Amino acid sequence: MNNNEQKLSENLLNTAVVIFGVTGDLTSRKLIPAIYELYQSDRIPNNLNIVGFARRDWDNDHLKKIFKDSVRSYSGKEIEEEKIDQIFSNVKYIQSSFSQLEGYEQLRKYLIDEGIKNVLFYLATPPEAYETIIELIGKSELSHLTEGWTRIVIEKPYGRDLATAKNLDKLVHTVFNENQIYRIDHYLGKETVQNILVLRFANGIFEPLWNRQYVDHIQITVAETVGVGTRAGYYENSGVIRDMFQNHLLQLLALTAMEAPVGFTANCVRDEKVKVLRALKPYDAKGVLDNTFRAQYTSGYIDGKKVIGYKDEDGVARESITETFLAARLYIDNWRWSGVPFYLRSGKRLPKRMTEIAIQFKQIPLSLFNWHNMAGDAPNVLVMKLQPDEGVTLSFGAKMPGHINQISPVEMNFDYEESFDIKIPEAYVRLIQDALYGDATLFTRSDEVTSQWGFINGILDGWKEDPRKYLPVYEAGTWGPPGVDFFIKGDNRHWRNPEV
Ligand SMILES: NC(=O)c1ccc[n+]([C@@H]2O[C@H](COP(=O)([O-])OP(=O)(O)OC[C@H]3O[C@@H](n4cnc5c(N)ncnc54)[C@H](OP(=O)(O)O)[C@@H]3O)[C@@H](O)[C@H]2O)c1
Repeated sequence: MNNNEQKLSENLLNTAVVIFGVTGDLTSRKLIPAIYELYQSDRIPNNLNIVGFARRDWDNDHLKKIFKDSVRSYSGKEIEEEKIDQIFSNVKYIQSSFSQLEGYEQLRKYLIDEGIKNVLFYLATPPEAYETIIELIGKSELSHLTEGWTRIVIEKPYGRDLATAKNLDKLVHTVFNENQIYRIDHYLGKETVQNILVLRFANGIFEPLWNRQYVDHIQITVAETVGVGTRAGYYENSGVIRDMFQNHLLQLLALTAMEAPVGFTANCVRDEKVKVLRALKPYDAKGVLDNTFRAQYTSGYIDGKKVIGYKDEDGVARESITETFLAARLYIDNWRWSGVPFYLRSGKRLPKRMTEIAIQFKQIPLSLFNWHNMAGDAPNVLVMKLQPDEGVTLSFGAKMPGHINQISPVEMNFDYEESFDIKIPEAYVRLIQDALYGDATLFTRSDEVTSQWGFINGILDGWKEDPRKYLPVYEAGTWGPPGVDFFIKGDNRHWRNPEV
């Protein structure tokens, strides 16, 4: 721990983390292991109060036991039983519905009795509950209860379109100031996502090439092998556009395309990201249909195992036209990127779990070698691999050794785990740390989330004009239907579909 971290950790004396939805999946799989890992690495003190709020008939001891089991089951770090006991020594369970004011009054009394100075509220709840909880936090005057700080972390999804996001924002702002609000997009907590900025702005060699003069196009892919599983109720109303595009893909796009911030502070970084989102070229209704490609998975094979199609999943309507795959062509109307297409795609039941950003550089102006060229005309691709196999590769053409004149594609490769000999930490560890330390750089600002929805709303509106009653389908375990290849081939480009 460095001096700054030590000071920040000391500032956390008399601090409570209040988790709404403490009995849920996110709490046990991510939040509790992250709190343990922060303590294990001395980044938070051991007298943190953890308060849980939910309906289930649990008590303090049971919650403590569940917390300890979560760490043992889900923490990627060494399990130190003594430290588990220490960090979960102050645990309080409040059994209440989110809509009962008495629960909040009980919470208020507990925080006062314990002499709490700082409070971090965490909404790990279904999104429909956000407004009720925020209203009742306001009503019970919990948002400015203490002499220290009070902050609120709000999970995704933040709204389901521009209007609902704005309404939610309006409500949150009646209870909290913007600097108290930490909207999560857990992609920003990933080391490799943060490395996009380091690669770009801590190195001199990439930035001069990072523009319309040298870049042919950019591909951003977030591919999942999983289907909807038990989340059909949510997914049917969301689709990949709300589940992945509005948040993760637009975040990756903004980090890739933004200008250098004037400083590495929360507002400077977010100012630049917002400028990119505002510069996204809006589509008209026809433009939406020309520049987006939706599809839905049918049955197929993933890792050699037969899986069912989307319409056969539990909770999915037979006539569903919810997209499980989306590819889109976006343009950023600014001096740096004018005319450079950004191809974004994401889908479920694709052959490989993979997130990457590929910067495809332009062709050489003139070919000198009349040789067999296996590297192709434009071999230079810089790929930021975000998961799995985190790292960066740069591809180029090299002369094959020997008497045959042949150019072969080769790669320079940086692998995160190999270079630093560590396991990449979970995004939630960093995000909870930053929320406790008061650093909002990796959280989404109000104008950022509304700019994201503003753009996405244009696509949703365009789709409403689409007369089709069904979507093209793709077999599970493939990279989408043939149409998605034509979508990009028309631009004389092709998708990077890695071998599985
Ligand atoms: N799970 C993940 O990996 C993940 C990842 C990214 C984002 N998220 C987001 O995180 C949030 C939580 O997800 P989750 O998977 O943890 O959900 P979940 O397993 O369904 O948990 C929901 C929690 O809310 C409580 N709850 C629901 N309605 C309540 C009410 N009326 N009064 C009191 N408590 C109530 C439940 O407690 P009781 O049943 O005990 O009442 C439970 O603790 C969602 O917004 C989700 O989008 C989750």
